[in-house]
Amino acid sequence: MTLLTPRIEELSLNLERVRSGEGIGAEVVRWLRAVSGDVASLPKPQSHDVHRGYYRTLLYRCEGFELLALHWEPGTITSIHDHGGSRCWLAVANGSIGVENYVRRDTGATPGYARIDLEGRETLPAGGIDFRQDDVHLHRCFTGSEHAVSLHLYANPIGRFHTFDERAQTCRDAESTYDATLTV
Ligand SMILES: [Fe+2]
Repeated sequence: MTLLTPRIEELSLNLERVRSGEGIGAEVVRWLRAVSGDVASLPKPQSHDVHRGYYRTLLYRCEGFELLALHWEPGTITSIHDHGGSRCWLAVANGSIGVENYVRRDTGATPGYARIDLEGRETLPAGGIDFRQDDVHLHRCFTGSEHAVSLHLYANPIGRFHTFDERAQTCRDAESTYDATLTV
């Protein structure tokens, strides 16, 4: 039992309202902003997947959602990715995170093929939130010269998702993994 436990029930209720169409996610955004300061001080895992410059710590998982903290090394860039059919909220807890937005143009009917277009870039400062609600609006995230910490909420939890190569017009299946689990 630590810092987020009393707030998980509140988050669960907020997400339930979004799911049932009663809420539009404003309560979820407020919740993420309220707890992101606590998340900024969470410990970074001892080790991480060497193929990526960020550390993924699972904070909470249930049938309806999962909550993760990501610690970012400077100069990290992710693959372009979707979110496996889940809605995704990314809240910057510390530092800043750049986001490149892409749109998927094909229907996904041809395995391994994807046509995507860059739509724009933005930089999220601490307190900034990025939201994805379908697998058409893709993104990749990156850091500049400083470390960053972010809080990620996926509803439902992500099992598998896709990464994309813009130039080759390909996509591939990937598995969501954690570097550490921290009970909150
Ligand atoms: Fe993402």
